[in-house]
Amino acid sequence: MTSAAATTSMPPDWARTLTDPQAFQHEQEKLSHVWTFLGLARDVANDGDWFRATLATRSVFVQRFGSDLKAFENRCAHRFFPLRTADKGNGPIVCGFHHWRYGSQGRAVGIPMCKELFGVIPRELDARLKPVEIELCGSFIFGRFPSPDATESLAEFLAESFPILEAMSETTAVPQYLTREVRANWRLCYHTSVEDYHIVAIHPSTFGKGGYLKREAIGYLRFGIHNAYFTTSDPEALTKMAAECQAGNWVSVNYRVFHVFPNLAVAHFRSDAQYWFILVLQYSAVTTDRSVMRAWIYPAPFAANHVWHDRWTRPFTTLSRKLGVRYYVSKVLKEDNDACEQLQSVAHQVHEPPILGGLEERMAWFEEAYAKIVLPGTRKTSEP
Ligand code: FES
Ligand SMILES: [Fe+2]
Repeated sequence: MTSAAATTSMPPDWARTLTDPQAFQHEQEKLSHVWTFLGLARDVANDGDWFRATLATRSVFVQRFGSDLKAFENRCAHRFFPLRTADKGNGPIVCGFHHWRYGSQGRAVGIPMCKELFGVIPRELDARLKPVEIELCGSFIFGRFPSPDATESLAEFLAESFPILEAMSETTAVPQYLTREVRANWRLCYHTSVEDYHIVAIHPSTFGKGGYLKREAIGYLRFGIHNAYFTTSDPEALTKMAAECQAGNWVSVNYRVFHVFPNLAVAHFRSDAQYWFILVLQYSAVTTDRSVMRAWIYPAPFAANHVWHDRWTRPFTTLSRKLGVRYYVSKVLKEDNDACEQLQSVAHQVHEPPILGGLEERMAWFEEAYAKIVLPGTRKTSEP
């Protein structure tokens, strides 16, 4: 660990995808084959349940068929009408444009007037939806578009964080949900969530009240292509937490946040006393200069060292705590989002790498992962 400046090998044209649609499209094509958080299993708990999500700008949906979960690109094979036009629901896959009906394998199994109009029966037409591969880490559903190179399992991808995120995801509570459109590139949004230098200037009434963090008192850790922030400098803390989560005996002790490439953050934070919460936060790309923030908040599913009288007072404080946490998280995220919109307004003027300091080390790590996945072949594909 060091308090020296973070080294970065970000190329001078790192900001090109923030304004150039062609470079952005290349980036998103690469990211479409990377495991990406789609949503929570609780939203597809019953047969026929489905929810819509975004995977590298493409609309997709996840649906339960009995004991199976399946996911498909959200466009009909006939004339590409979106099959799901709401955020969630329940029912068979029937297109709203001409009533083509799809089975659990994504094949069109019911086509009105098929023989008369297409000259064949549906099986012979063999029209199919584009499948999305999905895997679960506890209740977190991740997906990617298939590719011959995308062979890593979700467990391999998440590395040491797998048992931790699995444990963090398991809750019976109904999460509070926040969403917002941000008029900024997704990467600017993610940068802001992955560095700890801006808190004094951007969050003066909350996080930043205590002043700048002491770099040597906190731990920045890496696992796979991802990273984490722990409010402990114990280098073994990640391994210990993984083992304890696996054994089911991890106890909430301090603030920890996991940043999973490309666009997910899962934080474990305290509201007051020993009340701990989980925040699942994602910034999904829409266009070069537009993103969607989605956030879920729920009580942490871990034991904590509560005071003895807690079980008497808790029923009276739960609702106000719930509202308070929602207000606090929403305020902090709005402050971040506003800063990103300011950054986006000058993105076209940026033609050199940033100067990163010790509290921005994880941003440099994120950019290393980004370069590894997105940059190969950039010039060939994005130049006319
Ligand atoms: S576009 Fe879906 S049935 Fe025609
Ligand atoms: Fe922030």
